[in-house]
Amino acid sequence: MDLQNVLKPIEEARGLPNECYISTEYYQMEKEKVFFQSWAAIGFISDVAKSGDVCPVNFLGMPLLLVRNKQGGIKVFQNTCRHRGMILIEERGHLRGPIRCPYHSWSYDYDGNLVRTPYVGGVGVDEHENICHRDLSLHEIRSHVWQGVIFVNVSGDAPSFEEANADVIGRWSEFEQPYHIGGEVSQFDMTLDTNWKLAVENYCESYHLPWVHPELNEISPIDVHYHIENENYAGQGSRNYRQLVSSTGQKFTDFKNLKDVWSTQSEYIAFFPNVLLGVHRDHAFAMLLMPQGPEVTLERVALFYADADIDKADNQDMLKENARIWQGVFAEDVGVVEGMQKGRHGPHFDGGKFSPVMDGPTHSFHQWVARKLIA
Ligand code: FES
Ligand SMILES: [Fe+2]
Repeated sequence: MDLQNVLKPIEEARGLPNECYISTEYYQMEKEKVFFQSWAAIGFISDVAKSGDVCPVNFLGMPLLLVRNKQGGIKVFQNTCRHRGMILIEERGHLRGPIRCPYHSWSYDYDGNLVRTPYVGGVGVDEHENICHRDLSLHEIRSHVWQGVIFVNVSGDAPSFEEANADVIGRWSEFEQPYHIGGEVSQFDMTLDTNWKLAVENYCESYHLPWVHPELNEISPIDVHYHIENENYAGQGSRNYRQLVSSTGQKFTDFKNLKDVWSTQSEYIAFFPNVLLGVHRDHAFAMLLMPQGPEVTLERVALFYADADIDKADNQDMLKENARIWQGVFAEDVGVVEGMQKGRHGPHFDGGKFSPVMDGPTHSFHQWVARKLIA
């Protein structure tokens, strides 16, 4: 695949070719080079809220397991038993005892240590000199939590999360404070017939606002937006954020100690490869893009707030309303994101022509993907 046109300056560049959106062979390569070698998003902190919570994740075909351990930390393991390779946990839930394999009952603690091997030395004998528990822990996957999202580096050799992402961590350092999910009503999923990259590309730009989001464009119009372009993230900001106020004057609590600029500013970045983030004075959100194949993407959305007791009864109407607003905005994007996918079956499409003024962040994303593929 020739990616030289993608790497050119925006005035001369073309977008990624159709193959990158529809081909199964390409998808397999992308899985290794773009997802497994980077820090990719796989879950929310709320997926394993309490010690003993477990949550299986199918990450581009790789079975992973999120676990909240006794100390309250989040661990990620390959969800495969070290004995005969049985899948360990198939349903999200809360465990009282260890992680027990349903096949021959080998059991692991929440830090992945093998702790029980019943009958491994014969009936009634739970040990054998050949079975060294220390050598048979679950395979741990490098993980990191940021912005309420759980990230993994499957290859294990990417620079540390902080080092790789110092720029964006610095940009949003004011939002480095506890995030609390607004309960069940603040989480929703959508499955789209599209390649995950088109969801990123659409999120990066404000160009489509007047036509795809006419109501949003009234409150936060296209001309108060600015571009955000960087090596491993891109997006847009608005200088016209207006927070939600209920008919009785109720508002969400602001995050603490934010600078004045955030009273009216909000920012939306696609953090490459697969999470779309938004921050506002009084709430934040994350949308995980979980590819289910080259042409299907599961979008998982969670909204976060400043108050630890945000989920209490008197907040439910506000929480529902805020979720409804965002769900509405994201639903407006479905048609164009799925439409671009359909368009990519047109063999004469050459990756498309970027507007040098409006498509900068999208072009940055294409360049990031192309650099990963070439590396
Ligand atoms: S495969 Fe897990 S105990 Fe045998
Ligand atoms: Fe949009």
